[in-house]
Amino acid sequence: MFAKVSSLGLFGLNAFPVDVEIDISRALPQFDIVGLPDTVVRESRERIRAALRACDIAFPVAKVMVNLAPADTKKSGSVHDMAIFMAILEAMRMTDVKTEGCAFIGELSLNGDIRGINGVLPMVILAREKGLKSVFVPYANSREASVIKGIDVYAVKNVTELISHFRNEKLLTPVENYIPPQTSYENILDFADVRGQKSAKKALEIAAAGGHNAILIGSPGSGKSMLSKRMPSILPPLTFEEALETSKIHSITGLLSAEQPIITERPFRSPHHTISSAGLVGGGSVPKPGEISIAHNGLLFLDELAEFDRRTLEIMRQPLEDRKITIVRAAGSVTYPCSIMLIAAMNPCPCGYYGHPTKKCICGMKKVSSYLSKISGPLLDRFDLHIEVAPVEFKDLSSKANEEPSSEIRKRVVAAREMQNKRFKGTSITCNAQITPDKLRQFCPMDDSAEKLFQSIFDRLGLSARAYDRILKVARTIADLNGDEIIKKQYIAAAAQYRSLDRKYWSQE
Ligand SMILES: Nc1ncnc2c1ncn2[C@@H]1O[C@H](COP(=O)(O)OP(=O)(O)O)[C@@H](O)[C@H]1O
Ligand SMILES: [Mg+2]
Repeated sequence: MFAKVSSLGLFGLNAFPVDVEIDISRALPQFDIVGLPDTVVRESRERIRAALRACDIAFPVAKVMVNLAPADTKKSGSVHDMAIFMAILEAMRMTDVKTEGCAFIGELSLNGDIRGINGVLPMVILAREKGLKSVFVPYANSREASVIKGIDVYAVKNVTELISHFRNEKLLTPVENYIPPQTSYENILDFADVRGQKSAKKALEIAAAGGHNAILIGSPGSGKSMLSKRMPSILPPLTFEEALETSKIHSITGLLSAEQPIITERPFRSPHHTISSAGLVGGGSVPKPGEISIAHNGLLFLDELAEFDRRTLEIMRQPLEDRKITIVRAAGSVTYPCSIMLIAAMNPCPCGYYGHPTKKCICGMKKVSSYLSKISGPLLDRFDLHIEVAPVEFKDLSSKANEEPSSEIRKRVVAAREMQNKRFKGTSITCNAQITPDKLRQFCPMDDSAEKLFQSIFDRLGLSARAYDRILKVARTIADLNGDEIIKKQYIAAAAQYRSLDRKYWSQE
């Protein structure tokens, strides 16, 4: 007796269709799974036997052969349990409703319950692309699956429900589509809490408006962490496409839940400085996404940048530029997107007071430069904006004046992003920070006086080609914030200021 049931597999972010074929023949009792299963898949035999027992169905006394096709793709995990279970029922002629056009994903537990799995979102998206009519998923993952329109999602709690549905005894009804809410800015930290610090706030507004990487440097207590943690409050809302892309990564990492079946806010990730390279950029024998990918379409905040392992930081450089990372393993290579804004904060030296207007630094030049050299020149180059955070002034702290709330800043950011959306329509670029060198001339037109000023700054400061590109992009964003299509002199001047750090601190090396 033969049966075939559809399932779905996952490698990295890529889902692929799996056909579960089963043949039950009269021979010595045996139960085998072939088609490159890993140990977890092979163990599903035990879970299936137990689940059948739990609903009083005797396991066939025969040779049961399961093939997971295509046979040359590795299958891993417990996701095919439910499909194999259904295939056995069908081969035993115990079903009345056809399983054609249905896919099954879910893990069985020994008592017949269906347990949640990771990666439901990309698998359901694929099922819809492949034209399947319905997909049966664990109840725990049903809200996540129901985000996808155009396919019926059935939430299954246990095998009893599954059996009664396919025996036409008690039909399950498809889950209602989940309509994700708009990005909410409630209950998040607000820039209104930060007194004074006008220039740092302005710089962060520019970073948010153009999607630029920024590094904040300043003495302890100057408010670097405080400022950075308020960035989510001024980032533009996620589009649905961005939300789906980010949610897929969160789905395979197991970060989605019934309460949050899809990501609707830009991720803000702030890993501790003890994080490993695999934790930061991704890795493992079955490569998992790292923080840099979990933050996709959002913000990665590295506080105390100089405390991070230097090698770990260097590994991050290339993916930062490419906006994706490919991890190669024996099992195959996986590519994860990582289009992020990087915000980093650090003290200028071990004691923290180098360059402080009143407190004396006790480190000595040697210690200062060895501390700063933990951040390599090429890494520093990845930051479009260098923001010096001065200690907060007493008059600002004691002032009664109200600070501007994040919602006001965000309005300007969103307006600047709208100009960018128009400019980059039909390209793969989404914000100024992503303009590629070959497109700089086209997207960053300057007037004559701006060009002249830029030339003199370039010569005077001996800028690198990379610094040139970055200043121009930041000037582009400042122009956007001012509603100007052509870049003027004052925007170049303002943008050039944000490259001051490599001279003031790193020139000592
Ligand atoms: N501009 C400011 N307005 C209000 N409070 C501030 C300001 N700057 C610093 N603080 C206070 O000082 C604390 C330390 O700031 P923090 O951001 O941790 O400094 P850093 O990260 O630069 O060492 C903050 O939690 C906050 O209470
Ligand atoms: Mg701090």
